[in-house]
Amino acid sequence: MTDIAFNDRSTPLTLLATRRSGKPRDLIAPGPRPEELMQMLTIAARTPDHGKLAPWRFVIVPSEARAKLAEVITSAYRAERPQAGATEIAALEQFGHQAPDLVVVLSSPRTDSHIPLWEQELSAGAACMNLLHAAHAMGYAGGWLTGWPAFSDAVRDAFGAAPERIVGFVFIGTPGRPLDERPRPDMARIVSIWNG
Ligand SMILES: Cc1cc2nc3c(=O)[nH]c(=O)nc-3n(C[C@H](O)[C@H](O)[C@H](O)COP(=O)(O)O)c2cc1C
Repeated sequence: MTDIAFNDRSTPLTLLATRRSGKPRDLIAPGPRPEELMQMLTIAARTPDHGKLAPWRFVIVPSEARAKLAEVITSAYRAERPQAGATEIAALEQFGHQAPDLVVVLSSPRTDSHIPLWEQELSAGAACMNLLHAAHAMGYAGGWLTGWPAFSDAVRDAFGAAPERIVGFVFIGTPGRPLDERPRPDMARIVSIWNG
């Protein structure tokens, strides 16, 4: 598996075996066309979901709205940390401007359902993963970030309302530099056989 080149999308298996994230700050144009993005999101929505609740949703943040997103994030941060320094603010300002495309994935749990919240949230994480796979399959790279903005209620409120939560900011674009492999788990450590 490790010998397969990262850009090998020749078979479904090599595609799955070679996906890796792009650092959002290194993702450049072209990003997916609107119809490609919709196709990615349709694939992302094809996610295991106990109870067929679709307990997640996707908010596209177009380039025209990135400055507004940066303002939402930096004002929320300043409100929570009035002593914030210029470097921290600059990093948060830059956060929302990364990559050609950005999808905010929200966990939108149904609290009136008997399906446990945990299961609904797991499904939301799986939707993010599907989105990354779809981006890779279509020749792009995605990067899933949370960071401070994902845990801010004020930032969440810009996209939804409690009990919704931000699962991740998924940035999508073309890698501006080769995606090097990163260390992968030692399979002997994470796979075991249970014999009772
Ligand atoms: C829920 C979640 C949140 C993450 N948030 C961040 C983040 O805020 N900053 C960061 O540098 N990486 C973050 N990562 C990790 C990046 O997505 C990372 O680049 C990725 O796991 C690389 O592995 P891959 O190539 O196998 O996709 C996060 C990952 C997950 C699953």
